Amino acid sequence: MREFAGAYPAEASPTGVTREFALTAAPATLPLLDGRPLAVWAYNAQVPGPVLRVRLGETVRVTFTNRLPQPTTIHWHGVRVPNAMDGVPGVTQPAVQPGETFVYEFTPKDAGTFWFHPHLRSSEQIERGLFGVLVVEDPTPPPYTRDVVWVLDDWLLTPAGEIFPEFNTRHDLAHDGRWGNVVTVNGRLHEQLPVAAGERFRLRLVNVANGRVFRPDFSGLDARVIAVDGMYAAHPLDPAGFELAPGNRLDLDVSVPADRRGQRVLVTDRFTPQPIPLAEIAIGDTVAATPDFASPAHAHVAAWRDTGAIPPRAEYRLDARQGGEYGIQWTINGEAYAHAEHGARPKNVQTLPYGEWTKLRFVNDSYRLHPMHLHGQFFRLLARNGASVDEPFWRDTVLVHAKETVDIGLVPLDRGTWMLHCHILEHAESGMMTLVDVTE
Ligand code: C2O
Ligand code: CU
Repeated sequence: MREFAGAYPAEASPTGVTREFALTAAPATLPLLDGRPLAVWAYNAQVPGPVLRVRLGETVRVTFTNRLPQPTTIHWHGVRVPNAMDGVPGVTQPAVQPGETFVYEFTPKDAGTFWFHPHLRSSEQIERGLFGVLVVEDPTPPPYTRDVVWVLDDWLLTPAGEIFPEFNTRHDLAHDGRWGNVVTVNGRLHEQLPVAAGERFRLRLVNVANGRVFRPDFSGLDARVIAVDGMYAAHPLDPAGFELAPGNRLDLDVSVPADRRGQRVLVTDRFTPQPIPLAEIAIGDTVAATPDFASPAHAHVAAWRDTGAIPPRAEYRLDARQGGEYGIQWTINGEAYAHAEHGARPKNVQTLPYGEWTKLRFVNDSYRLHPMHLHGQFFRLLARNGASVDEPFWRDTVLVHAKETVDIGLVPLDRGTWMLHCHILEHAESGMMTLVDVTE
């Protein structure tokens, strides 16, 4: 715990400024992918939804209206909000019914890249286009030449080019969720970013896909990871090999080499055996002077070494079984939990004492991927399969691979009842969710 002191604040420090936003979720037909109209569900008739930008210390007030044919909510992924603002129906609020309005209000405690999405029937609602990005800027943002958001997603389309209308299929459930047949950045098949040679920009990647993992390759650029899951790293890192699972964010400090004037750099996904082009950086003929400033990646990240002998407070066994409304249920410790069933609590609610160092263990008894996400807290990876791992950054989502055991460490600083679930949305929808209580 001593090592943790000062890593990130227990409380927000509001400046007194409130930023008001209005978000409406509704069906829309938008030019997406290659520009042809696609029938989607969207926030403010945009896919991705709007980027909400605030400064650290500002209060965010979002008046949300549901014009969908289904109930919904908004969850602020990675943001340490007051528990009642977490957007989990049946746990932190009633679902927002069609036609209803709900006001979300919170002051972020951390600067960084966050996102928002429904937390009800999310395997359908997010897949149809409901997601947006919340950027919390530093009080004095570093002088990057630009601040770019790339929302990574995939879409499962029918031969006619419509969103495949069946959700939570047996196939999705038996695999790593719904993987699409087209991959987009910011809703486009061929995202292009024009820059000048010499520029130094900030690139914020967000994986909003239901199940797909990305491993972006930035070769040809000078790119360093500065933040993971919103929080700054202890020092800048090489992005090579980083796996961006559903829910994860990655912030990069990218310098465009001055000697690559007039060239194009393709950023490619290499998670799958067949590389997938993600986006193109088109370097202009002009040369800009590269801003020279220290990397913002110098956060205090607790080291927590040699924790191997400490027993975990809780062990979560991840597996599947036959049954349930989709034919397959994904379970945590043998239990399938659906929070939307009003007032239902899983049998296994773990209590995590406020402010106390806690170790949790995920044991994947299956051969599928499980990006495990904990609401309202950040944690550090301690070990994979018993071998200690020293990641110099915090996370809110960690990818647990086939048959893998992953240990995480955290100091809960946010009271309330929080979700712990797989971020492969079909796994979550069919039961791979549970709750933790952070109490005194
Ligand atoms: Cu982005 Cu409960 O998740
Ligand atoms: Cu999973």
